[in-house]
Amino acid sequence: MTPPAFTQVTIPRPDDWHVHFRDGAMLEAVVPFTARQFGRAIVMPNLTPPITTVEEALSYKARIQAAVPDGVSFDPLMTCYLTDTANADEISTGFKDGVFTAAKMYPANATTNSAAGVTDIANVHGVFERMQRDGMPLLIHGESTDQAVDVFDREAVFIDQVLSNLVQDFPDLKIVFEHVTTQEAVQFVRDRHAVRPGFIAATITVHHLMINRSDLFRGGMRPHLYCLPIAKREKHRLALCEAAISGPGPFFLGTDTAPHARPAKESACGCAGVFSAPVAMEAYTQVFDEEGALDQLAAFASENGPAFYDMDVNAETLTLEKTAVSTVPSVTSSEGDEVQPFLADEGTSWRCV
Ligand code: DOR
Ligand code: ZN
Repeated sequence: MTPPAFTQVTIPRPDDWHVHFRDGAMLEAVVPFTARQFGRAIVMPNLTPPITTVEEALSYKARIQAAVPDGVSFDPLMTCYLTDTANADEISTGFKDGVFTAAKMYPANATTNSAAGVTDIANVHGVFERMQRDGMPLLIHGESTDQAVDVFDREAVFIDQVLSNLVQDFPDLKIVFEHVTTQEAVQFVRDRHAVRPGFIAATITVHHLMINRSDLFRGGMRPHLYCLPIAKREKHRLALCEAAISGPGPFFLGTDTAPHARPAKESACGCAGVFSAPVAMEAYTQVFDEEGALDQLAAFASENGPAFYDMDVNAETLTLEKTAVSTVPSVTSSEGDEVQPFLADEGTSWRCV
């Protein structure tokens, strides 16, 4: 006899350890989708201009809080964008005062709004030394920016050329390898975690758990599935699923929800980013259900992240239940910008109760 399928799951309220909220009308339109399900979110600093000072972070945080619907508790955790001229004192003060939770390193020109990023990692060694001393996490967009490197190989090349040296040079620096997309990244994190637990972690997006690179071209070009790092081969997607459902450990939830208005996506030169906030927990739960691993959802979504960041697990709970598949409506800002969410047509078979 086959065991009964689970139709409901309750977990401690999850957190999203990687989001893009943008600013202005777009921010107001998208924040409620994250706040309705997640207790906290690590907010990426890649605005134009980027968030590099304590003052900018405080004022950005206030704009986010103002967009949280009444009666909803949600804590935005702010990050500092590292540039070649990053100021170690400012970053350290911001961390010690509880304004910055972490600093984000984009290699210059690796992705959306990264032009002000780091051109040579040697330029921020002083900052890393201070972060290491302070216990401040470094969040990394891990892709080589060498245009001669094939776009599907950029994460693996970054591991070989940058990350493997970085963890040797700064063994006490807490590092999150953001939105990992390859077998190589999963293996790197596992190996490093075995040697230095608590000092390496990785976020995994829901779109990278659900799509592979062939899906980008299914029946035609699918600009709303284009993001960076780009989705890889099926074997990599399978490695990510295995990591996500592996229980307590270094892998945790980070959607990388990244809204762009429809014309910026459906364009001759479309922007990278998948807007997954409207379906995030529903879609992650669907993946865990399909993997027969609903019992590991709490570790990935609610427990591993706080353990790495030295925070408490949220006291509230979130319940999801299996339903008929429903499609996902697009979101429109007060300025008329329309954003198409992930799974708009396919829908999801779970919903938040
Ligand atoms: O696809 C992406 N979009 N990847 C990133 O790293 C940045 C993000 C964005 O800000 O749109
Ligand atoms: Zn991101």
